[in-house]
Amino acid sequence: MAPPPSVGKKKNVEDEEWSHGYRPRRDAVRLITKPGEFLVRATDMYPSADIVISAMDDNRKMVNITLKSDAEGWFLGPANERKTPRKFPTIVDLVDHYRAKGLSRTLKLTQMAIRPTWMIKHENVIYEQKDQLGSGNFCTAYKGKYTLKDGKTIDVAVKISLVAQAAAGLESEEAKESRMAMLREAQIMSFYTHENITQFYGIACDHQPLLVLMEFCAGGDLLTHLLKHGKNTDEKEKMVYLYEASLGMFFLHKKQCVHRDLAARNCLISNQGVIKIADFGLSKGIDSSDNKKEDDGSSKNKNGSNAQVPVRWMAPETLLKDAQGGPAYSRASDIWAFGVMTYEVFSNGIKPWPEDPVKYVATQIRKGNMPKLPESTPSKIVGLVSEMWAMDPNKRPVMRQIAKEFNTMLKNSTSSSSGSTYGPKEMTLNKINGVSRTAFFVSGVVGGVGHRRFLLIVVLCSCSDSMFNKVETSGGGPKLRRTQGSKGGKRGSSLRESKNSVDK
Ligand SMILES: Nc1ncnc2c1ncn2[C@@H]1O[C@H](COP(=O)(O)OP(=O)(O)OP(=O)(O)O)[C@@H](O)[C@H]1O
Ligand SMILES: [Mg+2]
Repeated sequence: MAPPPSVGKKKNVEDEEWSHGYRPRRDAVRLITKPGEFLVRATDMYPSADIVISAMDDNRKMVNITLKSDAEGWFLGPANERKTPRKFPTIVDLVDHYRAKGLSRTLKLTQMAIRPTWMIKHENVIYEQKDQLGSGNFCTAYKGKYTLKDGKTIDVAVKISLVAQAAAGLESEEAKESRMAMLREAQIMSFYTHENITQFYGIACDHQPLLVLMEFCAGGDLLTHLLKHGKNTDEKEKMVYLYEASLGMFFLHKKQCVHRDLAARNCLISNQGVIKIADFGLSKGIDSSDNKKEDDGSSKNKNGSNAQVPVRWMAPETLLKDAQGGPAYSRASDIWAFGVMTYEVFSNGIKPWPEDPVKYVATQIRKGNMPKLPESTPSKIVGLVSEMWAMDPNKRPVMRQIAKEFNTMLKNSTSSSSGSTYGPKEMTLNKINGVSRTAFFVSGVVGGVGHRRFLLIVVLCSCSDSMFNKVETSGGGPKLRRTQGSKGGKRGSSLRESKNSVDK
């Protein structure tokens, strides 16, 4: 077991671009592709981590050398042990030395694999307990500050995994797997940029607590807004919420990302009053393969804690008792959840079957007995939701169609010929502290690639149909990966329908 690498000393390993912090071996294998390329990584969180140099030798063989330390300094571990190993005051000194000299005749450290920007350092993040934003199925969220490389500071939401927190210091396999999964997801999320999804900034994973940094949305979550202002919100404004959410989901589905926890609580309202999909990817970071499924569709995790899935938002095929390999999540099950979210929006934040136990709810869903939407829901939307709630996943519309439908409905109902005018002033979104929306209809352009960012402000919608012309060929389609790079449609067991999350 090695002590923290030169933390607090003159040369801090975390400042080096070749230092990747906690990073599993398989990541190193993927990142290092040529002889001479190298990185330094920790096999776990400090202080229980080994520090390893991963490099490729001239024969293209991957070599992992564990560093050791004693009172006299750092030196190369057993595989390279000499009678009297050369010792260095810091890891940085050691690496500098072998970069100049090479580790052996065939093993040189000539080119560093650079630490990605999404691997954030804890020292650049500040948050305080008093700034807690809330707590959900997987995380506790805080408002915090993040200092960027150029010294600029931005507001962020800092999320701390509850499993990682609970397991801090215990070295449980579940905690390790959870961190690995979060890292995998983080890598993927870092490539996602769209006006209607919350921007992911990165993960601080060098030591506990593991911090996930996201764009801070001053307007909070859509559920809270609906509960507070839903009654005074015009149906067209509600359609705007759903339209913008559908654009975010359309983008995620195009990226092969299945959300699996789509609900009004996971839609956030930005400072500009734009609806953004949150918690894609993150929630799947906590996954366990041997969770036992209960009759009511909930599941218990290895620790036997009452980890339950958010049954009310789940599609019937994801609630099958004997589903092999876990619930069958897919883009089509997200569409089902979008239907439930539409219900939430038009019932001003009331979830379906608000008073009933999950066992009853799961049975109703399996039978396809879904609740009626409130009388005030526009009939077109009632029709659309009934399509989203088709028992056969393949018969459900795809996100592109849903976005297009909302776009058309908004276009028709806000056109000058409809005789009514709608402006941002009337929007209840503008009643939220810290939110300022300047147009009734703001939409992110769909169809572009993840790295580009557009903001199209359209008063009285002028989006063309071509926005929706790409991707998605069938409702259910093939079973998708959870997100790119992570296998299976299995939902994490740690989903809970707990008092402070799903039931809130
Ligand atoms: N990026 C953010 N900006 C502003 N507030 C946020 C942000 N992320 C989360 N919050 C707030 O913190 C609360 C808790 O978030 P969290 O995602 O942990 O739980 P949840 O959304 O209620 O449940 P779930 O586990 O299904 O995501 C949210 O309800 C929201 O009000
Ligand atoms: Mg959430």
